[in-house]
Formats: sequence, structure tokens, C-alpha cells
Amino acid sequence: MSEYETHDFDVIIIGAGGAGLRAAIESSALGARTAVICKSLLGKAHTVMAEGGVAAALGNVWPEDSWKVHFRDTMRGGKLLNNWRMAQLHAQEAPDRVLELEEWGALFDRTPDGRILQRDFGGHRYARLAHVGDRTGLELLRTVQHRAVDVGVEVFMECKIVRLLTDGGGAVCGAVGLWRESGKFVVFTARAVVLASGGVGKTWKFTSNSWESTGDGHALALWSGADMIDMECVQFHPTGMVWPPSARGLLVTEGVRGDGGVLKNREGERFMFRYIPDFYAKETADSIEEADQWYGNKKDFRRPPELLPRDEVARAINSEVKAGRGSPHGGVFLDIASRRSAEDIKRRLPSMYHQFKELADVDITTDAMEIGPTCHYIMGGVRVEPDTAATTVPGLFAAGEVAGGMHGANRLGGNSLSDLLVFGRRAGIGAAEHALGSSRHAAADPAQVDDITRDSLEPFERDGGENPYQVHQALQDAMQSLVGIIRTESELVEAYEALAELDARAAKVSVEGNRQFNPGWHLALDLQSMLAVARCTTLSAIERRESRGGHTRDDYPQADPELGKVNMVTRQTPDGVTVTPEPLSPMRADLAELFTEEVH
Ligand code: FUM
Repeated sequence: MSEYETHDFDVIIIGAGGAGLRAAIESSALGARTAVICKSLLGKAHTVMAEGGVAAALGNVWPEDSWKVHFRDTMRGGKLLNNWRMAQLHAQEAPDRVLELEEWGALFDRTPDGRILQRDFGGHRYARLAHVGDRTGLELLRTVQHRAVDVGVEVFMECKIVRLLTDGGGAVCGAVGLWRESGKFVVFTARAVVLASGGVGKTWKFTSNSWESTGDGHALALWSGADMIDMECVQFHPTGMVWPPSARGLLVTEGVRGDGGVLKNREGERFMFRYIPDFYAKETADSIEEADQWYGNKKDFRRPPELLPRDEVARAINSEVKAGRGSPHGGVFLDIASRRSAEDIKRRLPSMYHQFKELADVDITTDAMEIGPTCHYIMGGVRVEPDTAATTVPGLFAAGEVAGGMHGANRLGGNSLSDLLVFGRRAGIGAAEHALGSSRHAAADPAQVDDITRDSLEPFERDGGENPYQVHQALQDAMQSLVGIIRTESELVEAYEALAELDARAAKVSVEGNRQFNPGWHLALDLQSMLAVARCTTLSAIERRESRGGHTRDDYPQADPELGKVNMVTRQTPDGVTVTPEPLSPMRADLAELFTEEVH
């Protein structure tokens, strides 16, 4: 029998990014004893990488904006694969969530008459992103973190959750974790568990995500029997740093393009005009003259193609590089220096200014940046019930990046921060109501805990096995080269076979030293999550034989209207992971009408 400490709560929340903390605030306000558990330190979450703003139809810059326009932009950006009800709730509730942040102390940039300033971003018809320079995610996180601590939420840091606990009926009733520092195990019992663990970016080689984003929540849900949807839809943000190698993948905010930055190839051509898809042709300027008029008078002109949604821009950059028109380090150029004064750049994009100065010795007020696509976000995730964030497993809820459905096949920039506020709050309510309404006493089954702890310690038991870092590197290489921006059947199948080999290698890794702060051991466990996620992504990507949003198939370059009506659902079965296309719920008639008429 293993030894471990135990804690009992009504609601535990796994992840301390914006979604987790927003859920905790709400759950605690409803009277549920609530804890947040995070793998890293409080205040350090991928939320901070949503730099340029939080999307909400406040109508401060453009009074014409409304939730209906935001809803429609979001659905179109997601190529209509979105769960329409989530997109509706998101668009309707985002303004209140932003105003609430302001009440809690967030210091947004201001219009001259003192309202929250909003900036342009790709795919949003109006300037809609409330922002704090280029540090919006950081300000959001700081604000909800203070609030959560203020209302008495308990926080457990540096604790990696390895498995969820289930009761005899298959409901989730807690989790087993390990303290990263001591390597000792801990058991949390709870009547409801909220997954708010963020994304999966560390499965790819070039990513804006930091070490925590290993798909732990996705894997925990899968292993507990939850449905996962559309895991093939992965977002490659068009602008990550490409140089120096140590900074490769680091995010360059879309705010640079929102504030006027333009993309150029090595020949100095503003190439985006050659990549305007029919889907966006009506609203996109098709000449430099027209695009530049938009900057001067946004109302009467079509938007510049640099402000197309991310999937379009990332593919265009990829094509330019492949055609030999890339920058010296394999990207393209992003130029804000010739578009804005140095003073403006330093005021509106201070982090970008410092990032390039410190890391690449480039002054972005005088020189262009070298950028290229970087794995940033996964649209797919755990299937949830839109109003309550309940997953298909009783007692388990999910919000933020770990949840699927909201963004369809491609997410618009700025919609992640509003997503995590809207659905973090809803998950907090859903979980608290579930917990407080449940008479069941959550108890951990010692045999289940023993199995989990024994399995987790296995890497110490093996001698002479492979180093987990080597397996991780091989996984990242395979996903980057075979399941990247542009995919083909043969490469996806090759990736799937490679994953089977990597599974076998991961099952034999060994770690040295003891359990105290042992990063090799932590990675050995994280590898299990990353491999589970990679399998779902690759299998769904094989099955979706079309191109849609963040999933581009070179062998099926068009969208297939029939596949646009289905989610790819992955599930864990005793025989492995399966994928099944399942129909989307039909959109409510009054909302469907928004796609045929002008909305204000
Ligand atoms: O480019 C950015 O600032 C990222 C924003 C987002 O992912 O929503």
C-alpha cells in the first residue's frame, strides 16, 4: 500500500490559467469548498500568451458591433464546425465578463473618452479586442488570480495530476497527483472535477507553449471515458519568432498586424494579396491601395488580407517559404516599423519591442521581424455540454482550451480569453451545483490509488531504459513533420505507425535519481499524455478527408460539405482509441439566418 496525504473538497479544478481561476471564483461564490491544483506556479499559465486582447462586442470603437456579428465572425472563422450554442453564449456573455474584469481591477487601455479601447484582429469584422498593450493575458490572469485568492480559493501548486479517480458507477470522484518537489503522492477527493489544464503544444517542435502544455487534461478525460471532439483541428499561429533558435516558436502577437503590421516575402512583396480565399473575398481588400485606405478610414473599405483568420495566414506563409521566397531563417518578414511611429510601437507593443531587442537584437521600430508559424492552440478537446460545461462523464467538467467545440476548425485571435472567462464561469457554476446537489460522499478506492501510484513509479524500476527526453524529441519531430500545417494521408499513416513505436519506447523509459524534483520522471509521465493526444489528433486527421480551418489536407484540398456536418469523436476503448464521425447539432433557425443577411 502506498502512502499519501489526502484532501477533500466539493470541487477541484485542475489548472490555474484563466479558465481554472474563473471557474474557482464562481464555484467558491456558490458555497462549494473549492481548490485549484496546478502543475506550475500560480500566475504562470499559457493564458499570458494571448497577448493582443480579449474579444468582446462592447461596441466602444464601433457602435455597429453586436453579439450577433461576433457570433457570426466566430462561426465563419471556425468554418462552421463550432458548437453553435457555445459560440452564441460566448458572444452574448463576453462583454459582461470583460466589464467584470474591469470592476475587479484590470487596467485596460482607454479610448480618448475613457472607455475600454478595442483593437483589430484577424477575422473580426470590427475592432473588438479589449487590451492592455500586448500584455492582455497577463493582466487578465493577474486580475482573476487576485480575485480567487481574495474569495478564499485554496491553491495547490507544483502538483502534477497523474490520473482521475472514478467510483463504481464510472463517475469522477477525485484525482491522484504528485508533488513535483518531494515526489510524494497526494489524493484529492471531490464531488466534481473541472479540467482547465490548457493545451497540448509541447507535442510539436515549434510552439508558443511552455513546458506545462503537455495535454494532461485531454488525456485525463480520455482515460476516464470522456468523448473528445475534432482533435485534428490544431492552430498554427502565423507569427512566432524563427530566430534565434533558442527563441524559435515564441509568440509574436497578432496585435502587430492588428495595429497595421504587414507581411512581406524576401522580395519585399506584400504576398497576402495572392492568398485571399473565396470565402473572405467580399470583405478583403485586393490591392495595396485599398488595404491602405482601410487603415485611414476603416468604415468604407475592405480589410487588409493580413487580417484574414490565422489558418489562412499561416498557410500563406508556409507556401511562401516552400516556394523559396522566405526570409534567411525560414520565415517571412513582419513589418511594423514602416507603418507606425517608434513611439506608437513602444507604447502599444512594449513586449514585442523588448522581446526582439533582447532575444534577437532586432529593433522593431526600425527593422522588420522574421516570423513563421508556431503551434499555438488546439481547437479540439473534451466534448462538453455548452450551458454547464459538463463532459460526457458524470462529475467531470471542462473549460478553456481543454474543452472542444467553441472554436470549430479554427479559432479567431482574442476569442480564447473571452472563451475562458465565459466558460470558466459556467464550469464553476456547473461543477458547484453538481457537487452541492450530490449526496454521495466522495471516497477514494485504495486499490485504484495503489494501481496509479505503482504505474507512475515504474520508470524508476527499469534499468538501462531510454531517456524520456529522447522519446519526447522523437515525438515532436514526428508531429512537426508529419502532422503539421499541411497533411497527407500517407504522412498521417506514417505518423500513426511512428506513434505505436514511440508508445513502446515510452513504456520502457527509465529515470535515474530519486523522486525529489526529478524532471526526467515528470517528463516520463507527461509523455503518456502527449502520446495519447497525438494519437487522437492523428487518427482524427486521417479520418477527416477534407481541408477545414486548422486541418489542411494536401490530398483533399477542398472543404467537403458532408464532413462539415460532423465532429470527429475519439474515445478510449479497451482495444485502443477509436474515431467516429458524429453529426453536429443543427443550428437554431434564427441564428442560421444570420449567415444570409447583414447583421448589426
Ligand atoms: O496573438 C496573440 O496575441 C494571441 C492571442 C490569442 O491567441 O488569442
